[in-house]
Amino acid sequence: MSDTQTPEHARNTKAESFPAPEAMTRFLYIADTHLGADPMGYQQQRGYPEHFGQVLAALSDYIKADTGIDFVLHGGDMIDATTDDGIRAALDAFDLAVPVYLCLGNHDLTTSDAVDRWLTLATRFFPGGNPDYTIDTGHCVIHVAPNHWCDVPLYWHGRQDTHLSADQIDRLSRGLEVRPDVPHLLLTHSPVYGLPPEQTGFPAPCHCSNPSFVAQVTSLASNHGSLACILGAHNHMNMRATRHGVEFVTVSALVETPFEFKCFEASTRSLRMATVALAPALDFGAAYDATKAFVQGRSVDRSFGYDGGRPDACSQR
Ligand SMILES: [Fe+2]
Repeated sequence: MSDTQTPEHARNTKAESFPAPEAMTRFLYIADTHLGADPMGYQQQRGYPEHFGQVLAALSDYIKADTGIDFVLHGGDMIDATTDDGIRAALDAFDLAVPVYLCLGNHDLTTSDAVDRWLTLATRFFPGGNPDYTIDTGHCVIHVAPNHWCDVPLYWHGRQDTHLSADQIDRLSRGLEVRPDVPHLLLTHSPVYGLPPEQTGFPAPCHCSNPSFVAQVTSLASNHGSLACILGAHNHMNMRATRHGVEFVTVSALVETPFEFKCFEASTRSLRMATVALAPALDFGAAYDATKAFVQGRSVDRSFGYDGGRPDACSQR
């Protein structure tokens, strides 16, 4: 195993420095921690579930060193398979200095009663006591809508019939019309778009979702001018694409080298995102596959930002 060989742009332990006006929400977006995996199944860079504790400790230190972070948003696959002990372990591990909110992913939903288990054992991850919820920070609105995988709601047994339910579409359609004065973000576990060939060097987009799910989400993006950013996870890769005037973002797995997450800053007229790596704060010599540097993405795939209102938000729809 070689020492960490992360690309230069992934070695910073601090997010880019932005002006910090008081009227701003700052949150971290993490995903795919797969707590309990032994070993990890799907991975893009090498995963280190055996060092989960050290990675979480580094994340905790990052949060404590920056008192301006309001909460952590977890994009799903917090655990590797649904068990009561696994959920309790997650509740214990994600006892951070700020609240942690979860969008359930397929690996969190491997039993047909998984939602009941989560809501009973880990209530604090779900504001309002529901797997679908909305966070209104005053500066932005975040809609969490975990996607479904088969005909049984929020149950995954291997199928990837990715979709949102009619109830979810209805709730989102109504919610996106409330508070049109601030940027809205939507989080689903499944990504919408694949990584583009310009990022990967592959002949076609990589890790695409099914067309019906893409149509559902892009319809929301096209019909609701408040929607500024759509977050996904599941692919274990960093991606950023601007479509329909909306930023589509996915994040690589927190437990894979170089242990990255996103830092978001939102005000009523600005939205910024930077990618941060914890690798320099870890001492177990994690290996990095430089032939798959596309997983971390180019600079353009790793950050975006605007001030003073969204650029061409309406004209691009
Ligand atoms: Fe997943």
